[in-house]
Amino acid sequence: MAFDLQRARQDTPGCDHVLHFNNAGSSLMPEPVLDATIGHLQLEAQIGGYEAAEQAEHAIERVYDAAATLINCSREEIAVIENATRAWDMAFYSIPFQPGDRILTAMAEYASNYIAFLQITKKTGAVVEVVPNDTHGQLSLEALREMIDERVKLIAITHVPTNGGLVNPIVEVGKVARENGILYLVDACQSVGQMPIDVEQIGCDMLSATGRKYLRGPRGTGFLFVRNNVLERLEPPLLDLHAAKWVDKDRYVIVPDARRFETWETNYAGKIGLAVAIDYALGWGMDTVWRRIKNLAYMLRSQLSPLPGVIVRDRGVTQCGIVTFTVEDKDPEEIRLALSRQRINVSVTRRESTLLDMDARGLKTMVRASVHYFNNEEEVERFCRAVEALG
Ligand SMILES: Cc1ncc(COP(=O)(O)O)c(C=O)c1O
Repeated sequence: MAFDLQRARQDTPGCDHVLHFNNAGSSLMPEPVLDATIGHLQLEAQIGGYEAAEQAEHAIERVYDAAATLINCSREEIAVIENATRAWDMAFYSIPFQPGDRILTAMAEYASNYIAFLQITKKTGAVVEVVPNDTHGQLSLEALREMIDERVKLIAITHVPTNGGLVNPIVEVGKVARENGILYLVDACQSVGQMPIDVEQIGCDMLSATGRKYLRGPRGTGFLFVRNNVLERLEPPLLDLHAAKWVDKDRYVIVPDARRFETWETNYAGKIGLAVAIDYALGWGMDTVWRRIKNLAYMLRSQLSPLPGVIVRDRGVTQCGIVTFTVEDKDPEEIRLALSRQRINVSVTRRESTLLDMDARGLKTMVRASVHYFNNEEEVERFCRAVEALG
């Protein structure tokens, strides 16, 4: 069945204003998400925040079922958290590391995660080790298998890194984690909403996601999955009266489900918006979304590559909707600004965000153009003409 591009664009008011290739930064919200989010803020203004939450309870609670359906888990395994970083942190900082424990990660790990590794290794005496890449530039499964021993406490990898089209083989990594009984944390911030994600298939114990990127939800939203049988072993680093119950003068009891990672006060309009965004994505079908994104990104790479001075930098066997490139003798930030003057949105990815990978490839910055299913072929062509004209 043909993809209903016309409906996708009609639902997206931003399409009338910008050529948006910054969907891995923050995508354009579709109208239903916008309406639901604004609608709840209006209700709060009219009748009061607590009263609005009571009235909209069903729409608020929907986010747990929607996220659970999206990634194939139960609603009790979902915590709604304000962004992917804090979601990931709440899982990671809950793990009781001991001196000598090993944490295995990948080359293109995100800065915030790596900073957390460094902090925890400093505090606990655990160590972080990086699994080398294979010849395709993705995590080497062979190297991973060789690094496994009884001291490996955690495998923590990013599915799609911030700096390119690479898709790490998380299902295969999951098999290694399972076979060896090792905790497995996946940063799916850039992949959720872009491609099908199934935590059963991946075999991960924890997975973090954000709302504003490929899910097209409001900013300041995200979620964390923690598997039921792991939950009880993880005491969150921070607890409030929502995450735990104060039952006696010197005793608290942590709530049994993943809400132990949440806080009481939260952005209700954001939760509703995120629920609608997930339902909206599910309405398109994640297989359909993924196929369309891959095709558009393939088209973009094929049209960019022959342009004078342009080098497309994406790596990996499977490449996603994030297209990174450099142009000879041109500063990526200047390219971003020049495109922005034509109302073309891209972002710049910098060394500091994925330091190990960028250093290994001798790169400082790249232009990052990230497409979504509502982008069209005409935009891809217009984008390439604009890049060509910069030369
Ligand atoms: C791989 C990866 N992980 C985590 C994050 C952080 O997500 P958030 O900004 O929602 O905390 C990003 C953001 O770009 C990312 O690319």
